Amino acid sequence: QLILDTLDDKTAINDTRDLTLPGQSGPAVSHDAQITILGALNSLLSRDMISYETHEISSHILTPEGAQIINEGSHEARVWSALPEKGAGPPLSPLQLKKQVGDETAKVGQGRAFKNGWIGKDGDGLVKLISMIQDDTQIDLQEISSTGTLKSGEKVLADLRKRKLIIQRKGQWFSVQKGPSFSTSTAKPETDLTADMLTSGAWKTSTFKKYNFEAEGVPVDSGALHPLLKVREEIRSIFLEMGFAEMPTAAFVESGFWCFDALFVPQQHPARDLQDTFYLSDPAKSLLPEPNYYKLVSTIHEHGGFGSTGYRAPWNHEESTKLLLRTHTTASSAHMLYKLAAKCRGEEVGGGEGEDTHGTSMTAGNPGKGEHDDGFRPAKLFSIDRVFRNETMDATHLAEFHQVEGVVADRGLTLADLIGFMRVFFKKMGIEQVRFKPAYNPYTEPSLEIFAFHPMLNRWVEVGNSGMFRPEMLEPMGFPKDVRVHGWGLSLERPTMIRYGINNIRTLVGHKVSLEGIKNSPAVMF
Ligand code: PHE
Repeated sequence: QLILDTLDDKTAINDTRDLTLPGQSGPAVSHDAQITILGALNSLLSRDMISYETHEISSHILTPEGAQIINEGSHEARVWSALPEKGAGPPLSPLQLKKQVGDETAKVGQGRAFKNGWIGKDGDGLVKLISMIQDDTQIDLQEISSTGTLKSGEKVLADLRKRKLIIQRKGQWFSVQKGPSFSTSTAKPETDLTADMLTSGAWKTSTFKKYNFEAEGVPVDSGALHPLLKVREEIRSIFLEMGFAEMPTAAFVESGFWCFDALFVPQQHPARDLQDTFYLSDPAKSLLPEPNYYKLVSTIHEHGGFGSTGYRAPWNHEESTKLLLRTHTTASSAHMLYKLAAKCRGEEVGGGEGEDTHGTSMTAGNPGKGEHDDGFRPAKLFSIDRVFRNETMDATHLAEFHQVEGVVADRGLTLADLIGFMRVFFKKMGIEQVRFKPAYNPYTEPSLEIFAFHPMLNRWVEVGNSGMFRPEMLEPMGFPKDVRVHGWGLSLERPTMIRYGINNIRTLVGHKVSLEGIKNSPAVMF
């Protein structure tokens, strides 16, 4: 309103520093005042009520030390006033002066007061030489504080800057003219042309807000990948770049045989309890696997074989044919390993290089020249898919989650290969510090739990489970004795939650998922 009224009165404002803002005693010379004016100018400009030009200036503001001088006088003035006039009292020793005005003030002020001829020596002490002084430093700083500059010029300003009493700051002021829609009324312009305005004729006199063609507009609504899918893709590409082939994992429903028996999990194992596994009621029974293999597996469980004593408990056919939701993707790995060993069992395999569902060969390499070909080909396989467990749900557990699983089969693999492999694998996931702890799995020996150091939590957290598959599991499939298979598994949810800072799994999956969070989460995290 002040700008509009001034323009109405004077046609133009040559320098906005001449304005006096409401509630202020002096003109708007300060930096803050010009910022306030700029806000008003832009608002009026957008309504075409004015136009303005910007003028750059460098202005100065006081440092805290400079501000102190305005209140208490300069260092030299403080030194001067602490001293007695010559003859009027005992002179002050430099030490006494320090005590009175402080070290810093005495140090800086003495030199300047001497130079100004304000004080002098009297014996060993110091005295005033004149009875009145003019504190120019204080006066200059007062001027700078209210105008941002000094009439007396740059030389003094430079000196005050060197004394760290003021600092330079870029400033602006403006000159203002009337615009095409100038009026002294700041009534809000209309944003819409309404039917009412048309019928009443009010549109003729209304002012309308200008279109802002520079506005960025509302973000376009679009689909977004769920964080789990993003991390799955990241892990998938780690496997692919390490030469792994992806296993088919579409079968969520497995039999007790493939989920447990083939992996040498005892039929009485607690993991198979109703509390832990979801069993199907319709259909409830699976078809049997190939009879020779089935016979071998059941015999090893019951009586042992291939160097194993077995579990020495009666074989339960029922248990083996139960249908269930797979509790781990190792069930799918078991299928694939059985398939990988087909040639070793002497079966005819189509395609020559081993069967494969993805059009690429699952296995690599040929036996060396002159070696006996027992049909085995090394393989590196992985999968990332869902598994189901009958868990009590809480912040970190759901009844379904994703497992990441890797399996490597080759002759003469050792535990060191597994450990080395996992170091590389986790490093590629951005996890540099890993530790291994002996663990137990019915199907692997030795088994290792993998711990990673979590820098944000500042502690070691379990990130996976691994091991060398047992001969009791591999040899019935038909693998030659020197073939070792190691494998490891981890959940997809845990690294995703850590990555995206999610601490409740129920905001990641299920009906409480935040769609906003999914849309706004970064495409890639490093
Ligand atoms: N199946 C194991 C689990 O569910 C992971 C694992 C896979 C362990 C392969 C060893 C070998 O935790």
